[in-house]
Amino acid sequence: MSKVYVFDHPLIQHKVTIMRMKETGTKEFKELAKEVVTLMTYEATRDLPLKEVEIETPMCRTTQKMLAGEDIAIIPILRAGLGFVDGMLACVPNAKVGHIGLYRDPDTHMPVEYYCKLPTDIEKRKIFVVDPMLATGGSAVDAINSIKLRGGKDIVFMCLIAAPEGIEKLSQAHPDVDIYIAAKDERLNENAYILPGLGDAGDRLFGTK
Ligand code: PRP
Ligand code: URA
Repeated sequence: MSKVYVFDHPLIQHKVTIMRMKETGTKEFKELAKEVVTLMTYEATRDLPLKEVEIETPMCRTTQKMLAGEDIAIIPILRAGLGFVDGMLACVPNAKVGHIGLYRDPDTHMPVEYYCKLPTDIEKRKIFVVDPMLATGGSAVDAINSIKLRGGKDIVFMCLIAAPEGIEKLSQAHPDVDIYIAAKDERLNENAYILPGLGDAGDRLFGTK
C-alpha cells in the first residue's frame, strides 16, 4: 500500500491556513504555495541517496557527501500543479519538468487529459507528480496511469490538501506510489470540492475568478 505522509510541521500548517482564507489574494497565495512546497520538498527528498566525494577545503583534503545524482522529474498536473514547480526547483534545480494537462469535467467530475509531455528519459527518473488538490483522486490516478504508460516507474505524489476519498482512491489504484500531503481534510462536498479546502486551486493561483 502507499505510504501516506502528512506534514504537520508548524510552518507548513501556518502557511496553509493563510492559503485557505478567502481574503488571501492571488499574489500572496502564489508566494505561499512556493514557500510551502519548498518546505515539503525538503522533507520529501530526505531519502535521496548520497555518495562520498573527496574535496579540498582551504584547510585540507576531506571526504564529504553529495547527492548521488539521482535524476528527478517534476510533473505538475496542469494547471494548478504549475504553482508547485518553482518551489521544488528552488530545492532541486537540476530536475527536469514534464507537464500533464488534465481538467475535471464539471458535470461528471471525471478527468479529461488534453496534454502530456515528459522528459525522454522518464523511466530513469524519480518522479514527483504535483498538484495542490487531491479531491476524488481521479486526476492523480489518470495522470499516474499516463506516466506509467510512458515508462515512469519510481513515482511519488505531492499535494497541499487531500480528501480521504482521494487518498483511498489513489492508494488503491497505485499502491506503489507514496503520497505527501500538507493537510488531510474532512470530506468532499456534493460538487466534489474539498471541505474545508481552499476553493478552486487553479482560480486562486491564476486569479481566474
Ligand atoms: C483541480 C486540481 C486537481 C483536480 C483534483 O484541477 O488542481 O487537478 O481538480 O480533483 P480530483 O482529485 O477530483 O480529480 P481542475 O480540474 O479544476 O483543473 P485546473 O487545474 O485546470 O483548474
Ligand atoms: N479542485 C480544486 O481546485 N479544489 C477542490 O476542492 C477540488 C478540486
